Amino acid sequence: MAGMKVLIVGAGGREHALAIGLSESPSVESIHTCPGNAGTSMLGINHNVSATDVDAIVKLATKLSVDLVVVGPEAPLVSGLSDSLRDRGIPSFGPHSEGAELEGSKLHAKQVMEELGIPTGGVQILKSDSDIDAALSRYSSPWVIKRDVLAAGKGVVVTEDVDEASSFIQDSISTDGFVLLEEFLSGEEASMLVIMDESGFICLPPSQDHKRVGEGDTGPNTGGMGAYAPAPVITESVRQRAIKEIVNPMHHHLRNQAIPYRGVLYVGLMIDDEGAPSVVEYNVRFGDPETQVTIPLIESDLGEMLLAAAEGRIESYQPIFSDKSAVTVVLASEGYPGPSKTGREITGENTRIEEGEISAFVHQAGTHRDEEGKLLSSGGRVLSATALAPDLPSAVGAAYAIIHEITLDGSHYRRDIAYRAL
Ligand code: AMP
Ligand code: GLY
Repeated sequence: MAGMKVLIVGAGGREHALAIGLSESPSVESIHTCPGNAGTSMLGINHNVSATDVDAIVKLATKLSVDLVVVGPEAPLVSGLSDSLRDRGIPSFGPHSEGAELEGSKLHAKQVMEELGIPTGGVQILKSDSDIDAALSRYSSPWVIKRDVLAAGKGVVVTEDVDEASSFIQDSISTDGFVLLEEFLSGEEASMLVIMDESGFICLPPSQDHKRVGEGDTGPNTGGMGAYAPAPVITESVRQRAIKEIVNPMHHHLRNQAIPYRGVLYVGLMIDDEGAPSVVEYNVRFGDPETQVTIPLIESDLGEMLLAAAEGRIESYQPIFSDKSAVTVVLASEGYPGPSKTGREITGENTRIEEGEISAFVHQAGTHRDEEGKLLSSGGRVLSATALAPDLPSAVGAAYAIIHEITLDGSHYRRDIAYRAL
């Protein structure tokens, strides 16, 4: 399809990366984003509609007569945005609400994996304070405790501290009625993003996120402090195993549902020392910041690819991937991942590097412009510096060269992104 009008839902670095990829797609003529950020406003029109207001998004998509809606975050998918859009004949990239339960409920995801024999850690459901000591003693430390709610990465605690484990369990039971205690999986994590519909699937280049706030993977979990792709921990044999043991059975399950899954399935993997993959989590959307390193590696028309999946004909799409390496380094506000200081001025966001095969630039996330046109921070993760190069060390060097040009009072970033692969 040529001359496509696309509506992107969301406001983060992921959505800016999608907007750039779509703006470079020959099939795409115009881009709308709701609500978007200062980065997406340079590529199309931002609309003041919240990413969680399903009715308002459906109205906007109808009014604009868009050819495709691309949904960034999980919350509107769980609330049924794709169901409503499809009812009105508008193609939506993102699963219907039932498919989105793979992320919406960690317990549901575990039950589906168990039914399909997909490798993952064991789980116990705790409903009462009196179970805690016995439950903790069944698994060795560190303990992995997960609330069964959408909590933007904040509903999970991984700790070796028995008191912290007990109190998080107690608090979660009192707010939610139950909590999950999971077996700890050791190894190296990686993210496999799989574009999927009933006709087939395409695995995008595997990436690795850095979830902890501090260097050497220390400190509290965040939404992700940086990423790189391809991740060498996913060797060809690990990839084949993950497809056979994890992606194929899930695809077979989802394609046979009454309403097929159309969108991206994010498979969060743990690869153990023997190269055996198991599932840490499923998400039903693109990862952030994984998207910032994945989209630039897709050389074929992104708009055509997302539309093909939204219409259930991904099998006929022939992707072309770059053989370069990509890296992104997130710059976060003071305080992040706790309460963040926002409303501070940012400079340097237009810095670019174009040197032979190396290119680097900024993906904006929590940013907006005030009436005078000043760029201000408006979220925990403010932007990320992304670089593409023929090899990973050159990409890392270029991403940090961009980061050093940005000013934002009190901001912080990790200095060791991609260290596992260097
Ligand atoms: P989740 O929201 O389920 O992805 O969990 C957030 C992060 O916690 C993951 O990216 C892992 O780093 C860590 N984590 C979650 N579950 C486990 C597990 N079973 N074993 C080890 N680490 C885990
Ligand atoms: N980067 C982790 C996520 O998007 O869930």
